[in-house]
Amino acid sequence: MKRLVVTGGNRLQGEVIVSGAKNAALPIITATLLAEGESQIEDVPPLRDVLFLNDIFRNMGVAISYTDKVLTVNPHHASFQEPPYDLVRKMRASYYLMGVFLARKIDTRIALPGGCAIGSRPIDLHLKGFRAMGANVNIDHGFVDLKGSKLKGANIYLDYPSVGATINIMLAATMADGLTVIENAAREPEIIDLANFLTVMGANIKGVGTDVIKIEGVKRLTPANHRIIPDRIEAGSFMIAAAATRGDVFVRNSLCEHLKPLVAKLKEMGIRINEDIEGVRVRAPNGLRAVDVKTLPHPGFPTDLQPQMMALLTQTNGGTSLIIETVFENRFMHIDELKRMGADIKLDGRGALVKPSQLTGAKVCASDLRAGVALVIAGLAAKGETEIRDIYHVERGYENIDGKLADLGASIEII
Ligand code: EPZ
Repeated sequence: MKRLVVTGGNRLQGEVIVSGAKNAALPIITATLLAEGESQIEDVPPLRDVLFLNDIFRNMGVAISYTDKVLTVNPHHASFQEPPYDLVRKMRASYYLMGVFLARKIDTRIALPGGCAIGSRPIDLHLKGFRAMGANVNIDHGFVDLKGSKLKGANIYLDYPSVGATINIMLAATMADGLTVIENAAREPEIIDLANFLTVMGANIKGVGTDVIKIEGVKRLTPANHRIIPDRIEAGSFMIAAAATRGDVFVRNSLCEHLKPLVAKLKEMGIRINEDIEGVRVRAPNGLRAVDVKTLPHPGFPTDLQPQMMALLTQTNGGTSLIIETVFENRFMHIDELKRMGADIKLDGRGALVKPSQLTGAKVCASDLRAGVALVIAGLAAKGETEIRDIYHVERGYENIDGKLADLGASIEII
C-alpha cells in the first residue's frame, strides 16, 4: 500500500503552478456528450476521476483521446448503453450523465452514487429538478431509471444551493422545450466555467454566478473547445501550506477572484498576500493570529479548504480559532488524525475549537481527499516524520502533489 512520508521543518519557497480544476473538468467533459462531433478540452488534470470518466465514455463507444492534458471527445458513434455499475460506483460525478442523457432524450439507468466519508451526499434535489421538467425518474435496486422524452422548461427552487444539482439541472435544461429557471442556484466558479463552455456550444444561459439561472432550451448544441479554469482548491491548499511553513511561495495560474474568502482569512491571520495577473504570492511572518472560519456555499469560505485551514490554525501564536462546518454533516474526520500529531482541537457538533500546539510527526490516515492534504500540511509543519496512509484519496484531487511540494523544498516522498 502506497504511503506518503513527509518530514517537517522546511520552509516552502519558490513557485508552484496550479492545474486545471477537477470540479470544473468533470461536468465539462460530460457536457461534450451533448453535441455530435469533436470537442477539445485543455488543461484537464490527469486525476483518477478524469481517467474513470474516460473509461465510462469509452465503454459507451465515445471516441476519446487524452495527451498532455488535452482531451478530445467525439460521441458521434457512441451507443450510449447503460454505463457499467463497477465504474459508475467509483466516481460520484458520473451522475452528471443523468442531465446529459435526459437532454439527449436517451433512456438510461445510472447507479445511485453512494455516500462517502464526509456525508450521505443525497441527490434528491437533482431528481426534483428532473421531475419538474417532466422526466420520468424511478429509483429501484440502487439505480435511477431515467425516461427522458422531450423535457419541458420549469421553475425549480433548490432547497439548498447544491453545486451538483445546479449543474445537472443546467445540463438537462440546455435542450428542453422552453425556459428553465433555477432559483437559489449554486454560484461556484466551476459552474460559471461550465456555463461558458455550454454557451460556446450554443446553449442560451443567463444569470450564472447569481442565485437565479435562466436556461432557454435550444434545438441542438455543437462541439466546442475550452480551457478548464485553474483549480482554486489546489491553489488555496498550496497557499495554506506556504503559510503553515512560514514560507514564501508564488502560486502561479491562480485566479484571485475565486479565492476571496481564503485571501481575506489569511490576511486576518497576518499573512502577506500579493496578487497579480499571473498568480498570488504568499509570505508568512512568524506570528500567525487565530481566526474564526465558517464554511458556506460560494462566495462564502469553501468547505473544500476547511481541513487545510484547520491544520494551519494549529500553528497560530496564541488564542483559539473556531471552525464551523455548515455544508457537510461529517467533515471533521481529520480532527482525530491531527490529534494523533499533538493538535489541541475540541469538537462539539458542527464547531471545532482549535488551539495552537507544536505538532509532532505520526502515522496517520487520509479519510477523504481534502482531509488527506490537510494531513500533508500538518506534516510539513510538524517536528519529525509523518506517514500518511490511504493517499489514493489525495491523488484523486491533486496532480503530482509530492513533486510540486518537493520542488518547493519540502522533504516528501511516496513509498
Ligand atoms: C461539489 O459536491 C464538489 N464535488 C465538492 O467537492 C464540494 O465540497 C461541494 O460541491 C460543495 O462545494 C464536485 O464538484 C465533484 P453539493 P456536490 O451538492 O455537488 C446537500 C472535493 O473535495 N445536498 O453542493 O456533491 C449535500 O448533502 C469535493 O472536491 C442535498 O441535500 O455538493 C451537502 O450537505 C468534496 N441534496 C450539500 O447539499 C442534493 O440533491 C452540498 O452538496 C444535493 C446536495
